[in-house]
Amino acid sequence: MPYENPAQRCATETSIERAGLFRLGSRSVKRLGYGAMQLAGPGVFGPPRDRDAAVAVLREAVARGVDHVDTSDFYGPHVTNQIIREALAPYPAGLTLVTKVGARRDETGAWLPAFSRVELIQAVHDNLRNLGIEVLEVVNLRLMFGVHAPAEGSLEAPLTVLAELRQRGLIRHIGLSNVTPTQVREARRLCEIVCVQNHYNLVHRGDDALIDDLAGDGIAYVPFFPLGGFSPLQSSVLAEIARRLGATPMQVAIAWLLHRAPNILLIPGTSSVVHLQENLAAVGLELPDEIRTTLDRIATDSRCSIHRGEHRSGL
Ligand SMILES: NC(=O)c1ccc[n+]([C@@H]2O[C@H](COP(=O)([O-])OP(=O)(O)OC[C@H]3O[C@@H](n4cnc5c(N)ncnc54)[C@H](OP(=O)(O)O)[C@@H]3O)[C@@H](O)[C@H]2O)c1
Repeated sequence: MPYENPAQRCATETSIERAGLFRLGSRSVKRLGYGAMQLAGPGVFGPPRDRDAAVAVLREAVARGVDHVDTSDFYGPHVTNQIIREALAPYPAGLTLVTKVGARRDETGAWLPAFSRVELIQAVHDNLRNLGIEVLEVVNLRLMFGVHAPAEGSLEAPLTVLAELRQRGLIRHIGLSNVTPTQVREARRLCEIVCVQNHYNLVHRGDDALIDDLAGDGIAYVPFFPLGGFSPLQSSVLAEIARRLGATPMQVAIAWLLHRAPNILLIPGTSSVVHLQENLAAVGLELPDEIRTTLDRIATDSRCSIHRGEHRSGL
């Protein structure tokens, strides 16, 4: 039965607990979380146009049961973490804040590697200070051998620094971001890795095998750009399926990811309370087998016209 307004539907009918939980470090988190990158200003640089609106999005997320928020101190820089602190501190018990280090911004907003020992230590302290906490629950090492796609290169040196900071009690768990399967294997020989955060969505399926391998080992996979990134996915097939289900294309994209593998934890980003509500409502969306089969093929079906999103700068 089609719904007039998917956001309203979620308000009355769904709880994100329906998507289940998955292990993230020493905690179990709900599989539908929130990515805070969109809360900084345009280009993830500087303050947002409407700070109160950004605060409202975070409070709404937590009010609706979100217990996993993804961030970084290089969003803004500093701005997103400061807004998270303003909106949510003192933090509810059980809220897991996941951050990432390994990049920095210059004065133009460009994203640059920041892998030296000094930069990594500084980044961990920046995150602690701006979030207003004493220990970072999960820190992803965001590799920058390729800025917008993984590229090979050893992560031993930066990972050793993070492992040391973990021993000193500043970090509880370590994850990886923008990595190849080879780098995941190298990292797992060096220390415990609790999650991998890479670019993946309905039409960007390069990590299919990696996701299944990680699932077998109980390691969370957290797709970034789950909706396609700054300019969300568009596909005639996706739009038609959404219409048939009485949902929106973004809800179908989220529901497909939830079905894709049990170790997928979602962090769709938005600066809008209405979009947040709509995205969380995707938890109630059933995908019949025949629709899942069509969606599974969307990335490779030459008859589908797809706008794959685009990656205006954001890490
Ligand atoms: N590790 C990395 O390198 C890396 C890279 C990128 C992102 N990330 C993380 O991943 C998270 C998710 O990625 P993302 O936010 O860049 O991309 P995303 O979740 O794929 O999409 C966000 C975009 O979709 C729009 N949107 C969200 N919900 C919508 C809806 N219901 N209807 C229409 N448009 C909607 C947002 O605009 P509105 O604001 O207008 O809703 C925004 O432009 C980030 O917040 C960040 O924490 C990590």
